Amino acid sequence: MDKSEPFYGPDFSQLAREDPEIAQVLLDEVDRLRGGLQLIASENLTSGAVMAALGSTLTDKYAEGYPGRRYYGGCEVVDRAETLAVDRAKALFKADHANVQPHSGASANLAAYAALLQPGDTVLAMALQHGGHLTHGSHVNFSGRWFDVVSYGVRRDTELIDHDEVRELAIRHNPKMIICGATSYPRLIDYSVFRGIADEIGAWLFVDAAHTIGLMAGEAVPSAVPYADVVTFTTHKTLRGPRGGGLLCTEELAERIDRAVFPFTQGGPLMHVIAAKAVAFGEALRPEFKRYAARTVENAAALTEGLAAEGMRPVSGGTDTHLALIDLRDLGVSGAEAERRCALAGITLNRNVIPYDPEPPTVTSGIRIGTPCVTTQGMGVGEMKEIASLVARAVLDSGAVTSVLQRVKVLTATHPTYPREE
Ligand SMILES: Cc1ncc(COP(=O)(O)O)c(C=O)c1O
Repeated sequence: MDKSEPFYGPDFSQLAREDPEIAQVLLDEVDRLRGGLQLIASENLTSGAVMAALGSTLTDKYAEGYPGRRYYGGCEVVDRAETLAVDRAKALFKADHANVQPHSGASANLAAYAALLQPGDTVLAMALQHGGHLTHGSHVNFSGRWFDVVSYGVRRDTELIDHDEVRELAIRHNPKMIICGATSYPRLIDYSVFRGIADEIGAWLFVDAAHTIGLMAGEAVPSAVPYADVVTFTTHKTLRGPRGGGLLCTEELAERIDRAVFPFTQGGPLMHVIAAKAVAFGEALRPEFKRYAARTVENAAALTEGLAAEGMRPVSGGTDTHLALIDLRDLGVSGAEAERRCALAGITLNRNVIPYDPEPPTVTSGIRIGTPCVTTQGMGVGEMKEIASLVARAVLDSGAVTSVLQRVKVLTATHPTYPREE
């Protein structure tokens, strides 16, 4: 490290000297990222500026509380990072209030439940098998254990959310909160319909925008903020920031949300991550991010059309977002097997249950694909067409592994992940 540099931050040679085993893990992971195509819909590649904030001395600081009202001394500097993060999030999402302390999307969701409900209250949310998240009522999660969760799904024929079912269930069960937002639903969610149903029965509307928040920031999909009482999000998916979570809410709920995060569900905030979130919000406020979000959606549509042309059926017929869900049942390959075959060919994606899946979650009949990473690498519609054909060959032709891998290497060489400095 340059001794005249006032910043104290990452020094890889020190890590390599002091802990060669972990240094090697870091090197191997960069190598893995650079050597293949990352099609996991919930991942992205953060900027060097975000990484610099993450690898800073802000990790050392205890700052329980909120800017200007901390339970520790010496917070005047880190307060500035959190104030910037909150102000930027409010500007980016046109929200009355933002809380940037949740350590993850699941922690943000726990805080949303804690702010609005009491244990035992009824919640209406999307079924996990139809695209919902574990925190939307799974019995292995706090949500399913501590709340009485009623689930809605998608229609068998259209594979779209059945608004009639949502309304009927809402009227029959009178939930205190309705959740929408999903982990593997490729289509737009009509927040105004959900708002209408919530108003009809006097329920809170909580939108979990973990996946689409970056697309909302870049105005590539409609924002949930004008409709929801609370919006939760992650910062590491389409938003391309550090791993973490956050909440947006109306002024009316601001104090309840803040108390639900700290002191109710979390202790000291991760100030280095909050600084990195501020950097990511700042990046998302720039015009380039709008172009990135629009391209991510365009790329997903092109990739999905390409896969459909190869006989790989997209659930619901396509996508409006950054991700697609592919039904492999007619191809005689399970999701787990497709994931394994793609991995051999240098393509990383994940198995995923499809609606009404006859297979268990460890096997599944589907795969989920997403374009946040490849779009960050600068790939466009032309590359998506090629990737669709590579995925199809990797899944359907076991003799094609070597030739697919060769093409993957060409794509990653021309659109490098974390390019090396010349
Ligand atoms: C809809 C949804 N909510 C919440 C989460 C949880 O986020 P995290 O993994 O940061 O806890 C996810 C993660 O995939 C998600 O897809």
